[in-house]
Amino acid sequence: MTLWHGRFGGDPSDELLAFTVSLPFDQKLAGDDIACSRAHVRGLGRAGILSSEEAAAILEALDQVEDELERAIFTFSPEDEDIHTAIERRVTELAGSTGAKLHTGRSRNDQIATDLRLYAKRELSELAGRVHALERAFLDRAVEVGDCYLPGYTHLQRAQPVLLAHHLLAHGWALARDVDRLLATSARLDVSPLGAGALAGSSLPLDPDAVAADLGFARRFENSLDAVSDRDFVAEILFDLALLGVHLSRLGEEFVLWSTDEFGFVTLDDAHATGSSMLPQKKNPDIAELARGKCGRLIGNLTGLLATLKGLPLAYNRDLQEDKEPLFDAVDQTLLALAAVTGLLRSVRFHTDRMEAAADEPAAAAVDLAEFLVADGMAFREAHALVGGLVRDAIERAVPLVELVEAHPALGTPAAELLEPGVAVTRRTTAGGAGPKAVTEQLARFRSHLTMEEERLGRTLRHG
Ligand code: ARG
Repeated sequence: MTLWHGRFGGDPSDELLAFTVSLPFDQKLAGDDIACSRAHVRGLGRAGILSSEEAAAILEALDQVEDELERAIFTFSPEDEDIHTAIERRVTELAGSTGAKLHTGRSRNDQIATDLRLYAKRELSELAGRVHALERAFLDRAVEVGDCYLPGYTHLQRAQPVLLAHHLLAHGWALARDVDRLLATSARLDVSPLGAGALAGSSLPLDPDAVAADLGFARRFENSLDAVSDRDFVAEILFDLALLGVHLSRLGEEFVLWSTDEFGFVTLDDAHATGSSMLPQKKNPDIAELARGKCGRLIGNLTGLLATLKGLPLAYNRDLQEDKEPLFDAVDQTLLALAAVTGLLRSVRFHTDRMEAAADEPAAAAVDLAEFLVADGMAFREAHALVGGLVRDAIERAVPLVELVEAHPALGTPAAELLEPGVAVTRRTTAGGAGPKAVTEQLARFRSHLTMEEERLGRTLRHG
């Protein structure tokens, strides 16, 4: 029997059911739906719409439904088009005509919006916690590698040496912005739509403020039409996760490159790499590649939802059912990716000798030579051209650059010393720069940022 059988002469067609069911994926909302129903029943009790015996009977039926679902002995019926229908049907079976009062003053439209926000709040704090754990892994590895340096790249061409810790923290700071975004999204979506009804509120003496508080929301909706139509929060989460996915993807790309024989900057731990079915010698960076690959899907989830939303008039339209699969998929995939990438980073072996050898190529200190001349009063453009000429000369005549520097009247031995291995990186001393002094300070700042972030996460969890 459908929820709307009164108005209809017959049963829905099989094709309709097959096309419109959401039960296969919205079962994920079962716990949130029960929480939402409990708050609604308590609200109906406070309003005197249910007697205390009736409220108790429905709450007891909800307990049993929860138990059956948790123990996976809940029997779904072919007519359960979604989890909300299934739970209400079972409550009515258990509590009889009293159970049939559960849906009083409520629509699936405000119910679904409420369930989805409860789900989102919980998952966002889980996600933010996992991003935080990855940031900690970056901090730990950055501390461990000390003053090791490697080439910094622009256009994937060696540019200037940077500390490895500096490079690692660059990823750390990007993730810190991700946590910030997830928490801001969570705060903005902390609104209860329950009590908006199908679209217009109710003639019954319901109290949306009280059910909002009962469910732990920061506030209730301001406008019933907006309450049941608003999926901004889903779009925002999908954006946050797409951007987080972009960060994981570019990190993955680096691990792919760094683990090649050509770079040889890292060796992946065996437990975090895969082999080849045919080529016995292979060790493949699959976690890194999937961190890159799954990002396409996260971006697709965002663009797909925006396309779904763009043509919808107010208020509820069945199109909105299409919000759930992209959201669930993005959350699930991101949680898996974060755990795998954290394991990869914690276990990877850095080849600091290879990194430093690559960064010690004398031309990497070319800008230091130019700045040496600038310190002597030469205009930077002139200095740039002079050093550029020496580099070209060195390449064309196959002479070591250091010999040309030694021999040049404006440069000489003190300038040649800048080309010694390990010297250039120590000269990046400005705040936020890539040298040891600045990075020591940066490490302290990142550490205190993480402490602050942990407090914020704790608060979010407590207010869940
Ligand atoms: N499963 C649907 C969804 O997730 C429920 C829609 C029911 N609402 C309605 N008025 N048809 O959106």
